[in-house]
Amino acid sequence: MPILNGDAMTNGSADGLDFSKALEVLKNEYPERDGIDVKTLIDSKVNGGLTYNDFLMLPGYIGFPASEVTLDTPVTKRITLKTPFVSSPMDTVTEHSMAIHIALLGGLGIIHHNCSMEEQAEMVRKVKRFENGFILDPVVISPTTTVAEAKALKEKWGFGGFPVTEDGTLRSKLVGIITPRDVQFHANLNDPVTAVMSTDLVTARQGIDLREANDILSKSKKGKLPIVDENFNLIALLSRSDLMKNLHYPLASKLPHSKQLISAAAIGTRPEDKIRLQKLVEAGLDIVVLDSSQGNSLYQIDMIKYVKEKYPGLDVIGGNVVTREQAAALIAAGVDGLRIGMGSGSACITQEVMAVGRPQATSVFNIAQFARRFGVPCIADGGIQNVGHIVKGLALGASTVMMGGLLAGTTESPGEYFVSHDGQLVKAYRGMGSIDAMEDKKAGVGSKNAKASNAGTARYFSEGDRVLVAQGVSGSVRDRGSITKFVPYLMAGVQHSLQDIGVKSVREFQEGVRNGTVRFELRTASAQAEGNVHGLHSFDKKLYS
Ligand code: IMP
Repeated sequence: MPILNGDAMTNGSADGLDFSKALEVLKNEYPERDGIDVKTLIDSKVNGGLTYNDFLMLPGYIGFPASEVTLDTPVTKRITLKTPFVSSPMDTVTEHSMAIHIALLGGLGIIHHNCSMEEQAEMVRKVKRFENGFILDPVVISPTTTVAEAKALKEKWGFGGFPVTEDGTLRSKLVGIITPRDVQFHANLNDPVTAVMSTDLVTARQGIDLREANDILSKSKKGKLPIVDENFNLIALLSRSDLMKNLHYPLASKLPHSKQLISAAAIGTRPEDKIRLQKLVEAGLDIVVLDSSQGNSLYQIDMIKYVKEKYPGLDVIGGNVVTREQAAALIAAGVDGLRIGMGSGSACITQEVMAVGRPQATSVFNIAQFARRFGVPCIADGGIQNVGHIVKGLALGASTVMMGGLLAGTTESPGEYFVSHDGQLVKAYRGMGSIDAMEDKKAGVGSKNAKASNAGTARYFSEGDRVLVAQGVSGSVRDRGSITKFVPYLMAGVQHSLQDIGVKSVREFQEGVRNGTVRFELRTASAQAEGNVHGLHSFDKKLYS
């Protein structure tokens, strides 16, 4: 509590001004808003290149609850998301599980290409076929499967309810269903499952929505609800054990009039990437990301033109770029979105080794400001370590932010958790330009979950290179739990931040930055130290619950 001296208390203020005139005095005598505008902030002639940690936004006026802040934002010229979160096309970050779950939460996952084209296409297909709650690739057995085999399958999968179809595959006629109880005490293990399976089936027809299907399942008292087509072929399955998990996702990223999630994947710019792209498009791809650390190349420009001509319905995101000149070349070639960043990634050593790159805040502002004039949305890619960085990326004009390291420790990223030498639960995270990733690519071995065959990522080396020059490192990141909790935390954090700034949407925020009502402050090194926890003997940094 500030202590006012006696004079101030009696006279109204130290200057003898009436308190009630404060707003008037502010207006008349301080025509310049407090803080600096974004152009003054980013003026590199004065301030040099800036990173996210080098500045802050000043608070505005709060006249609404944080929950009213909306985060809708475009990711390409045609596609808008409900949240600004994009996961990076890295083999330790985005495969189908990440792509599905981040899309359910309103973001977008870009499936990596350090794997065979068939595997990548299959992942795209899984995203497109995903229907919340419905199991679209259930384990199916045939009438000739024996009781012993059904028991072994239960051991293998950890669940024991299997639909039985005429030829043992999905889309074949459903003939029965086997439950763990059917086989548990059956003496003759060599009997076929038809001897014990249940044929008294409760099914639902294809096209039923999740709520109705859940309803039938609850009333049926059965463990599984097979979904069949008009010829009684098995199409999908609903499981009682998933009932509680079948949540509603109001923010899910879908195209208008579509029930399917939006799918995005990365490719390179070599001739064989055209074949890869064709397979991805056949699998239902909506957005292709041309994955290059230096996007301003003959190869990428040719590829952009090729994609726009051959697949006019497909959106192309080009990059990476950090200068206006690079961006202009890709915009002229026809990109629908740009990816900004060179050397800012957490597992990246590009700036150190190549002496090329740019501090991320400066890159984002310069490109986004230019690209906006052509209606091209930008992704701020790399260097996002916390909610504040996300907000700063948006402040500087990016429509979305791309995260690698921040999402690599979640349940939905590829790979298994392991205990590090200091006893922490961690997951592997590696730069796509690390020697590890490049050698796996050369040897035809992608991530643990995605084995590469050929034509994997060429982001950081050319096939003819005799020496691999690393631009990334390979390491690990701490466990962050599931993105079904982590992404809502990021979202709530961004909403609270925009509330502090006094804006109700990303759009209003960026308008405020442009017209100078959202104000900034540079942070000296000691200001940064002050803004972090300091002076405590020990502390626990729990970020959300
Ligand atoms: P992070 O979110 O800070 O971990 O950065 C992720 C971003 O780093 C990716 O989206 C890529 O743009 C970039 N990146 C990935 N691998 C490498 C690498 O090996 N060297 C340099 N940058 C990389």
